[in-house]
Amino acid sequence: MRCTLWVVTLVVLALITTSPTNAFIDCNDVIGRILECSRFVMNQTNTLSKECCDGVEDLARVSEAASQMDRQLICDCFWRLARFWPFDSDLVRDLPDMCPLKSDFAIDPDADCTQP
Ligand SMILES: *[C@@H]1O[C@H](CO)[C@@H](O)[C@H](O)[C@H]1NC(C)=O
Repeated sequence: MRCTLWVVTLVVLALITTSPTNAFIDCNDVIGRILECSRFVMNQTNTLSKECCDGVEDLARVSEAASQMDRQLICDCFWRLARFWPFDSDLVRDLPDMCPLKSDFAIDPDADCTQP
């Protein structure tokens, strides 16, 4: 019960302190979830590991449940990631179809994150 209360408190706190730096999801979460896909998105292998697809599936779930602001943040993470991680955008876009995911989740590292 106390545990539930804590979660509720944290959610409320997260809701009232909505600024990009205090968002519910941060880039580390996003990166952590797709790290297992790194060999695939860098075109070093054409097979996808279960860990990678689980991560993408998880990200899809988080993204679906997320507020528009958090979705924008996820989008922004890919955009920022692209600057120092030499992945191939086409391969990142292929991930949801390749796994394949149960949900229809799209990742586009070249997307304009200012668009809802
Ligand atoms: C991945 O690598 C293969 C072999 O080197 C190449 O033929 C293919 O075009 C590459 N794919 C992408 C999306 O860059």
